[in-house]
Amino acid sequence: MSELKTTDQEFILVGNEKFVPYLNEEKIQKRVAELGKEITDEYKGKFPVFIGILNGAFLFLSDLIRNIHLNCEIDFFKLSSYGDEKISSGKVKLLKELNADINDRHVIIVEDIVDSGLSIKYIEELMSRYKPASVKVAALLYKKDAVKYDVKIDYIGFKIPNKFVIGYGLDYAQKYRNLRSIYVLEEG
Ligand code: IMP
Ligand code: MG
Repeated sequence: MSELKTTDQEFILVGNEKFVPYLNEEKIQKRVAELGKEITDEYKGKFPVFIGILNGAFLFLSDLIRNIHLNCEIDFFKLSSYGDEKISSGKVKLLKELNADINDRHVIIVEDIVDSGLSIKYIEELMSRYKPASVKVAALLYKKDAVKYDVKIDYIGFKIPNKFVIGYGLDYAQKYRNLRSIYVLEEG
């Protein structure tokens, strides 16, 4: 038996915590294609730069840009993570700076999930070091009841309840990013 099957799991046990299917591959891909179309339409005639927030956004970014029918560039910021916990440390550290010159460019920040909003707030403040022509934010998931910081997310894949999720780039102690679907921690 393989150690981890990346498709069609009935549930995933992490110690005594049980994760159950929440958004399957088909639903995710359909929504990512819709977002790609929306962004393609809105940026017609422009040459945007997509900036993924590592590590979590790497899958969303790679699927999203394959649905962007425009010339575009990509780059990454890397932020410090949750560590091995399910709850944010409340601190963000920049682990990787940009390489692209985004002066006068149309920037789309690509994030896997907005929880408290702290990471996006941090990125927004970081953006003030640069002089981009515009900045928008795309997040695959948005925990609407968890957001504590005043951030504007321009493109949202799915609004989800305040529960811990894994898969499709999202980790628990760095594992499970390679799951093709998103699973949610079953509570109670
Ligand atoms: P925020 O700064 O509190 O908005 O948290 C955003 C970051 O925390 C995301 O980029 C994720 O890396 C991580 N995160 C938040 N919620 C979850 C979750 O449910 N599962 C896995 N990672 C999460
Ligand atoms: Mg992240």
